[in-house]
Amino acid sequence: MARKGRLTRVLRSRCTDVPPTVAPFRIRSARLGDVPAVHAIEQEVFADPWSTQDFRDCVAADALFLIAEVAGEVGGYVVALDAADEGEILNLAVAPEGRRKGLGRALVEAILGLLQDRDVSHIYLEVRESNAPARALYAAQGFREVGRRKAYYRRPVEDAIVLRHDA
Ligand SMILES: CC(C)(COP(=O)(O)OP(=O)(O)OC[C@H]1O[C@@H](n2cnc3c(N)ncnc32)[C@H](O)[C@@H]1OP(=O)(O)O)[C@@H](O)C(=O)NCCC(=O)NCCS
Repeated sequence: MARKGRLTRVLRSRCTDVPPTVAPFRIRSARLGDVPAVHAIEQEVFADPWSTQDFRDCVAADALFLIAEVAGEVGGYVVALDAADEGEILNLAVAPEGRRKGLGRALVEAILGLLQDRDVSHIYLEVRESNAPARALYAAQGFREVGRRKAYYRRPVEDAIVLRHDA
């Protein structure tokens, strides 16, 4: 997950409608009304969470912001940006009670599909070095390690591993 200061620097206008998928969960574009539920997951999951305003800004700017909806509830989300032929996954989380059911994989596949539809050929992200579940998920989706940012994260301080996916 990217540190949130970068979000405000890179958000810009775009349109992100995706056709919803079907049961047992569906992936769809985020709406303003999703923000409280998204933020509740964010606070539960991350020690240095984005604010509700960060997520509202994503909706307002039509960022690439997708929701995994399970029985009408927000079960997870992913946020990404693109510029020219490069993209970046900025945030991804699945509610703890909904994990290991394929939501994370579906969110990543959906956002990769959206980015590739925009002719993005290189997709980057940062992940905590110790985050084995996320690193396994990204590796299974074809991301490979291309760098390291020393002491990138706070609470606790930890290096970020930079991953890249090439179309
Ligand atoms: C990472 C995260 C999004 C995965 O979501 P999920 O819905 O549980 O993932 P899925 O069920 O789709 O799993 C897909 C693959 O990811 C890997 N994976 C997921 N959880 C794992 C775990 N606890 N241990 C090892 N591998 C794991 C596996 O390769 C898995 O495939 P498999 O089920 O066939 O073995 C979720 O654990 C999460 O929200 N973590 C906290 C937030 C976070 O770390 N976000 C990423 C920041 S960069």
